[in-house]
Amino acid sequence: MQITIALTKGRILQQTLPLLASAGIEPLEDIATSRKLIFPTKRAQVRLLLLRGSDVLTYVQHGVADMGVTGKDALLEHSGSNVYEPLDLKIARCQLATAGLKNRTRPAGRIKVATKFVRSAKRYYSAQGRQADIIHLYGAMELAPLMGLADEIVDIVDTGNTLKANGLEMREVIADISSRLIVNKASMKMKYRSVNALIGQLAAAVGCY
Ligand code: PRP
Repeated sequence: MQITIALTKGRILQQTLPLLASAGIEPLEDIATSRKLIFPTKRAQVRLLLLRGSDVLTYVQHGVADMGVTGKDALLEHSGSNVYEPLDLKIARCQLATAGLKNRTRPAGRIKVATKFVRSAKRYYSAQGRQADIIHLYGAMELAPLMGLADEIVDIVDTGNTLKANGLEMREVIADISSRLIVNKASMKMKYRSVNALIGQLAAAVGCY
């Protein structure tokens, strides 16, 4: 039975490939350098798709991919039905956090927050009982406080180098992030044996057993 696994491009991919390899899933060509988007693997019944993180959830939700690997940040932002999240792959660990200009206290009252994590930011500030106007950006969030577009940003912090290089500092951690395995609910039922075997192999690779 054919299994399609949607993977996230970029830094998650580098850490996903060794896990897949230990489950015997190795693309037939170099997935990191190829311009292709669909990759057959050494296991003839398993193929890989290469997508942006937030699109992985869409493909799995619609059942076009049976399984996927994506960051918890994308799952928090686009939380959807129709998928299980059976395994924390414990890779690409980082934090979703608020940040602002170094040594600058947050203004009292209503603040402007720039982020691409609009839903997570709204949820966070409202849970804190703080008034925040969310400004949706698609990248380079660090620029917003520097240019006076926003008082604060909500972004992924890994090494902290990007914040530091731009004179910003982390303020509060919103969530600890890592990559998760997600599975389409119908695939889990219809392809139970193959999907469950794969989850087991990946869990073993992560060291969950
Ligand atoms: C993320 C994030 C920061 C940076 C943080 O961007 O948006 O800019 O990484 O990493 P650091 O703490 O190690 O400096 P990414 O490179 O993933 O690209 P993106 O803007 O496409 O999300």
